[in-house]
Amino acid sequence: MSDSTSPRVAIVTGASSGIGRALARVLALEEGFAVGLVARRVDRLKALAGEIRSAGGRAAWAGAGVGDRDAMRRAVAALVGELGPVDLFVAGAGVAHETNALAPEAQAFEREVRTNLLGAFYGIEAVVPGMVERGRGHVVAISSLAARRGFPGAGGYCATKIALTRLMESLRLDWKRAGIRATTVHPGFVKSEITARRTQPMPFLMETEPAARRIARAIRRGRKRCDFPWPTALLSRLAPLLPDAVLRRTNGRHRPDG
Ligand SMILES: NC(=O)c1ccc[n+]([C@@H]2O[C@H](COP(=O)([O-])OP(=O)(O)OC[C@H]3O[C@@H](n4cnc5c(N)ncnc54)[C@H](OP(=O)(O)O)[C@@H]3O)[C@@H](O)[C@H]2O)c1
Repeated sequence: MSDSTSPRVAIVTGASSGIGRALARVLALEEGFAVGLVARRVDRLKALAGEIRSAGGRAAWAGAGVGDRDAMRRAVAALVGELGPVDLFVAGAGVAHETNALAPEAQAFEREVRTNLLGAFYGIEAVVPGMVERGRGHVVAISSLAARRGFPGAGGYCATKIALTRLMESLRLDWKRAGIRATTVHPGFVKSEITARRTQPMPFLMETEPAARRIARAIRRGRKRCDFPWPTALLSRLAPLLPDAVLRRTNGRHRPDG
């Protein structure tokens, strides 16, 4: 049971690397949350939990694939048992695969839908009833500025991210009267395992820590949307207006003519 003297509890999925890992650290060590860490690579979660505890914070971990509904329920239940009711849930787990338009392949697309979209919803399904019961809570989803339009080679990724953005937009309207806040985060390029694999140019690539602090600030302020870094966020607003030919030149990889 948590009381007014207990630290607030946050669960972060995708906490084994990149943005999720950095955000979990910031929430634990700078924002005063007890953090529940979720991902599949438990060795990394254990190491992060150890790091947070040695620095004076409170952390627990639960290994789960977010696309496995029962595993997510079990993970959330275990973390609630250990840390207390969830005040903040961050759906951070995500994958990005190439969508080869000329040799379409469903497996990679299914992984993106399962992780980026269903995975976020399974987490929401597991935490929201407790928040409704207590009349408060905050749900954060990490979408992407790639939700602004369809980019070449990234059809599956862009589709899951705009779906996640729309899902959060809608849920937020209904959550408001239950006392639940919602923040949808739209990062540009941030150093992580996803971006380490990219070969295309990544303008305004950000370090992971400042990105995590940017998200933590938006959470603290209860922002409904958090887009960064500002130059990419600004440019992304223009992306829907760009002619197809410009996007094909800057990003295309599957076109036979390069
Ligand atoms: N980096 C960017 O430039 C950027 C930009 C916009 C949006 N984003 C979004 O930011 C989020 C974090 O990505 P990142 O860039 O930090 O990449 P990352 O370093 O690859 O981290 C991805 C995280 O998601 C977890 N994950 C992946 N599939 C999972 C599954 N099935 N079940 C549970 N956890 C899973 C991974 O953990 P395990 O492999 O241990 O399970 C890892 O902790 C993603 O939603 C991504 O789409 C990133």
